[in-house]
Amino acid sequence: MPSITIRNLDEETKQALRERAARNGRSMEEEARLLLSQLRDHDKKPEAIFASKAWSSPATAIANAQITADPNLDGKRILLIIGGGIAAYKCLDLIRRIRERGGKVRPVLTEAAQAFVTPLSVGAIAGDRVFSELFDRDDEHDIGHIRLSREADLLVVAPATADLMAKMAGGHANDLASTILMATNKPVLVAPAMNPAMWNHPATVRNRETLRHDGIRFVGPNAGEMAESGEAGTGRMAEPMEILSAIGGIISPDLKPLSGKRAIVTSGPTHEPIDPVRYIANRSSGKQGHAIAKALADAGAEVILVSGPVNIEAPRNVETIHVQTAREMQKMVETALPADIAVMVAAVADWRTENTADEKMKKQDGKGPASLRLTENPDILKELGHHGKRPKLLVGFAAETEKLAEHAKAKLERKGCDWILANDVSPSGGVMGGDSNTIRLFSKDSSETWSTMDKQSVARQLVNRIIEHFETETVTV
Ligand code: C5P
Repeated sequence: MPSITIRNLDEETKQALRERAARNGRSMEEEARLLLSQLRDHDKKPEAIFASKAWSSPATAIANAQITADPNLDGKRILLIIGGGIAAYKCLDLIRRIRERGGKVRPVLTEAAQAFVTPLSVGAIAGDRVFSELFDRDDEHDIGHIRLSREADLLVVAPATADLMAKMAGGHANDLASTILMATNKPVLVAPAMNPAMWNHPATVRNRETLRHDGIRFVGPNAGEMAESGEAGTGRMAEPMEILSAIGGIISPDLKPLSGKRAIVTSGPTHEPIDPVRYIANRSSGKQGHAIAKALADAGAEVILVSGPVNIEAPRNVETIHVQTAREMQKMVETALPADIAVMVAAVADWRTENTADEKMKKQDGKGPASLRLTENPDILKELGHHGKRPKLLVGFAAETEKLAEHAKAKLERKGCDWILANDVSPSGGVMGGDSNTIRLFSKDSSETWSTMDKQSVARQLVNRIIEHFETETVTV
């Protein structure tokens, strides 16, 4: 079944969808789901379904929207750990949808979860026994936490409460859920749900970072209204269909999380010629940008890497375009549009010489150095931030030697990007040209500090954040 990102539809389509949904007493998601299932049944010929004039434009927009395969979970075993939060009720729908796609669900309820959903209802929908006790020696069906954790293809924690996440980050194993999570050798997907204040609490921020570093995958949380009246912010659990699509991204070998997405990455320095043999350059090695291009490609994205002059190999599965100057880089980035994702890592020279000498400039005895007149280079990131074809997710880097946060936030605003990854490039840190990096990620309303790690790990962590971003935005219908 195809999927679309409703948020990315144009305004006209969204309005038409809204009106049609209201007319039919359905939510927008339900309405789009119905339309897309018709699209599939009609062999993907939108005209047949949207015959009326009013629907011709939405039909085309929906047909042209990003369409990804619905996960086939045939025979896949999901161990679903349900935590104690109001969002636990959504797990009943999640279980149903996993089973509809051929997956098997084995539910584990924490003690707190049982205050929100009953083992009876969960077990009935899952068609399996519900597990909740760590020591259940009297139970002849007891199969133990090690087997439970190993007999699954994927572990899903939903809702993941602040407490469950803290336990996971701290390596606790004092109940069945935490013990399974400690004992597993399978991928783990976490769907957090908590009050926004708890989500933004420094302790949760630290735990999130630890879990990401440990390879745990996240889906959500989404922004919106909380169960508590009058509260809103980031903390709502991702919807079952979003969790399902995240499950598919991990479990279906043929469906990678960024399949169908197109990404542009810039990397390395630029060389701005002074004369035929001299140029203005910087110490950027291209290691970080190349690692990000590779990690995006590994996650299934189609990647175009626009690289300045570097001495490292271009990653495989990536289309690499080599350029020398900022203006060449600008042109190639422009040509590569449109894209879903753009990560501008290149250390583009801010200035170039106003006139490049045609011949090698001669040293003139006794006259001192010739002066160079410089002129500003185009700011590629800033142009993309204000471009008619602005990528859906635009990420910039900020190499700073002082006032990191202040400069990074100003850059986020000025360049019109979604995230800035700031790093301290003071010579003492050895980041420029070195192998490791310490990143702070700034978005419009939050910031997070990553621990020091090698540039490949920075790339993977960024790509995981990108995957989460799109998983939260995509509604499979
Ligand atoms: O302004 P500054 O060079 O510090 O900004 C850094 C960010 O902007 C990086 O993401 C870099 O790739 C991008 N940039 C650009 N074009 C320029 C200068 C910087 O794309 N001319």
